Amino acid sequence: MTSTRKAYRAGLLHSLGDPVELGVDASYQYISDGLLIVEEGKIAAMGEAADLLPTLGDDTPVEHFENALIMPGFVDTHIHLPQTGMIGAYGEQLLDWLNTYTFPCERQFENKAHADDVAARFLAELLRNGTTTALVFGSVHPESVDALFEASQRLNLRMIAGKVMMDRNAPDYLTDTAESSYIQSKALIERWHGKGRLHYAVTPRFAPTSTPGQLALAGRLLREHDGLYLQTHLSENQKEIEWVKALFPERTGYLDVYDHYQLLGERSVFAHGVHLCDAECARLAETGSAIAFCPTSNLFLGSGLFNLPMAEQHKVKVGLGTDVGGGTSFSILQTLNEAYKVMQMQGARLSPFKSLYLATLGGARALSLEDRIGSLSPGHEADFLVLDLNATPLLSYRLAQARDIAETLFVLMTLGDDRVVKQTFAMGEVVHRR
Ligand code: GUN
Ligand code: ZN
Repeated sequence: MTSTRKAYRAGLLHSLGDPVELGVDASYQYISDGLLIVEEGKIAAMGEAADLLPTLGDDTPVEHFENALIMPGFVDTHIHLPQTGMIGAYGEQLLDWLNTYTFPCERQFENKAHADDVAARFLAELLRNGTTTALVFGSVHPESVDALFEASQRLNLRMIAGKVMMDRNAPDYLTDTAESSYIQSKALIERWHGKGRLHYAVTPRFAPTSTPGQLALAGRLLREHDGLYLQTHLSENQKEIEWVKALFPERTGYLDVYDHYQLLGERSVFAHGVHLCDAECARLAETGSAIAFCPTSNLFLGSGLFNLPMAEQHKVKVGLGTDVGGGTSFSILQTLNEAYKVMQMQGARLSPFKSLYLATLGGARALSLEDRIGSLSPGHEADFLVLDLNATPLLSYRLAQARDIAETLFVLMTLGDDRVVKQTFAMGEVVHRR
């Protein structure tokens, strides 16, 4: 019998939990000369190279990466496939940005060939940045989700996505109806949810673009199928919040709109949450709902500064989101660079190990996938990346001065981007090589 075992030798670094809960030292594991053993798509063992190398049979190939760090694949908890072509659009805040740039760009996804082309570019961009799992908004067109899942299936990626539900306050060319959104979402769920590594997310865009009837049907979909996700936007921008108050005067606030339609829960992810109050954070925590923290987007669209310490106080699950195309980078490293500055502007810190947690295990927890991804521990799916510590002359020079792994990690997050991602693996197979 030929062995499917393979081993990778490099520095190994992964998160063991939230440093805010465990303390920094207990929150991570770092092995400077480690070995990661992969078998049948899963991590079979990890530890000191000196201990594990003698246990390998002659038939197990070992690949040695010099000056490199192996980490779990990054998790992006909020991103838009159909906004790939409009990233970096000038001059507007959320509501004008949607009307001026976003909706016309998303319209092109009525064409399946266009959706296929962008899905291929989008996945290539995620993988070149080391992101192996993402929670993805499609457009209103079911074709957008078919395109993403078809391409994800070919690469055996763990991906979550859904068709946008949007039946008011958007151009006619981009709206569905409550009934058609229910029928189309249901067909996509039956076609894709639970197939291989794919999951479906019920995706009302945000409260202003759904009628009460459509939000009620989103809740019904969640109750009719096991293990579905819910993704939407929440409390991102002041004008948006005022608009929600005007549209839903009978509700006590923005989150209460979603709560009323039974959209909160363990697999619900709300993007942004920049302007939440304590009671809303408490309710998110109580229901097991998560927030996607999207710093590059919040800065680019002038939305505001996310209060991570407040979410931590309430024990709300938080993951990172690039929010491309409101966000300005596919890179989780660059997203952490901006997250650090968002904390600085509020007189707070974002430690390198909290950043590592948010990018990997914390993201996996936000998606209730921590038993499968986000860690190098044995039994997890072998979604991991190899970071090249000599990727650029400046990085190489700067890291030579680093005193410990905390400093190395922090500099990687400050200077790093897709250039440092040497290889990306999904289920033990190479899906990107620089
Ligand atoms: N709110 C509603 N739709 C969107 C979107 O596409 N991007 C962002 N950032 N916020 C939204
Ligand atoms: Zn978004």
